[in-house]
Amino acid sequence: MAGLVVAGAQWGDEGKGKVVDLLSEFADVVVRFHGGANAGHTLVVGEDRLVTHLIPSGVLRPGKRCVIGPAVVIDPQVLVAEIDEVQKRGLLQRPEALLVSHRCHLVLPYHKLLDAARESARGALKIGTTLRGIGPCLEDKVARCGLRVGDLGDSGLVNARLSARLPEVNALLVHYGREPVRLEDLHAGLREQAERILPFVGDAGALVRAELARGRAVLFEGAQGALLDIDHGTYPYVTSSNTVAGAVCPSLGLGPRLVEEVMGITKAYSTRVGEGPFPTELADERGQLLRARGHEVGATTGRPRRCGWLDLVALRYAVALHGCTSLGLTKLDVLGGFGPLKVAVAYRLDGRDLQEYPTEPGVLERVEPVYEELEGWDEDIRDLREREALPTPVQRLLKRIEGDLGVPIELISVGAARAETIVSRNPFRRKNP
Ligand code: IMP
Repeated sequence: MAGLVVAGAQWGDEGKGKVVDLLSEFADVVVRFHGGANAGHTLVVGEDRLVTHLIPSGVLRPGKRCVIGPAVVIDPQVLVAEIDEVQKRGLLQRPEALLVSHRCHLVLPYHKLLDAARESARGALKIGTTLRGIGPCLEDKVARCGLRVGDLGDSGLVNARLSARLPEVNALLVHYGREPVRLEDLHAGLREQAERILPFVGDAGALVRAELARGRAVLFEGAQGALLDIDHGTYPYVTSSNTVAGAVCPSLGLGPRLVEEVMGITKAYSTRVGEGPFPTELADERGQLLRARGHEVGATTGRPRRCGWLDLVALRYAVALHGCTSLGLTKLDVLGGFGPLKVAVAYRLDGRDLQEYPTEPGVLERVEPVYEELEGWDEDIRDLREREALPTPVQRLLKRIEGDLGVPIELISVGAARAETIVSRNPFRRKNP
């Protein structure tokens, strides 16, 4: 039995796509378990570059089973476009290669319209959402008036659900000065999409439970990051679901003991997109340099990401939230030639050290990070494949992070390509069997 979750330990965009693509070599099944097309995973293999939003990053490995779990919200238009992209590369030729849960809620055109209408109505209080309709779709799920992937096979049911839902949706759209949506248009789109999606639909929870029971290696791919969690993140500047590793259990219907390992992924610096407090943000030319060197532009929205120093206070909180058993450190190469580095090791507020990570925006905006300065390095580390071969200042940074967080760094990404990675062990094999 081996369940491994790969989870973002910052505000998303930590490079989980590359890590999952890489670790899926050791896995039999790769499962996406929350979020939706708000996520964007950039995968680079050779000259090829693929951005996935819904299909798990393991899709590039032929022979692996990819699964989309019930808590993922599916924009059918995005899923169909992604299936096309992947099939063009000769992958996903058999329906068994991808299983989409019949319980996934559908992101419909009106969810995206409402997301955009609400964001513009919020003015200065906007959240900076990805405008992918995630919040409004999850509201409908909880209000029990959503439409699910499995419903697509029954046009009578789709008609009944949409007919019941549209009066309220259209009243809201009109309230925000938008055009109402028409039932016929929704139907026409869904009919075409259903034909493409239904061959992949089934019971994802049952499959994953059975695979775990057979002792197969299951890799769970997280989206977003711990600090965007609806309950534990920097509310209201968060996404609309739980992003912590434990969310895998309710998503797939697993008991908590089935997940043995959690690898938290962090960049060697910090980034955030959208609004919300960011204590170690660099609003100067060093932030711009990080953005340029790290190509810090959103894979989903094309928005420039805000950049700043590594924040060990935030990471300590994320490691606790996820229950990390290991860490993956990405984009380490970006810091080469940057000069002396800083890492935040504590927060001070009104002259006092804070013990717990404060998630309330009003408090987080006022904290002063306490920085420790570390020596930088100038060497290009992209060709190095052993941790021991890394320059001494890099080794010191790794030890500083591990010492502070109490979790070993078991994967180090030193470049965008799959090969530019240092992996210290097969993460599915227990350290002390
Ligand atoms: P939503 O998930 O589109 O509602 O956006 C809510 C917040 O989460 C915004 O600040 C987004 O920028 C952020 N967010 C959502 N998904 C991602 C992601 O995959 N990476 C980084 N930020 C994200």
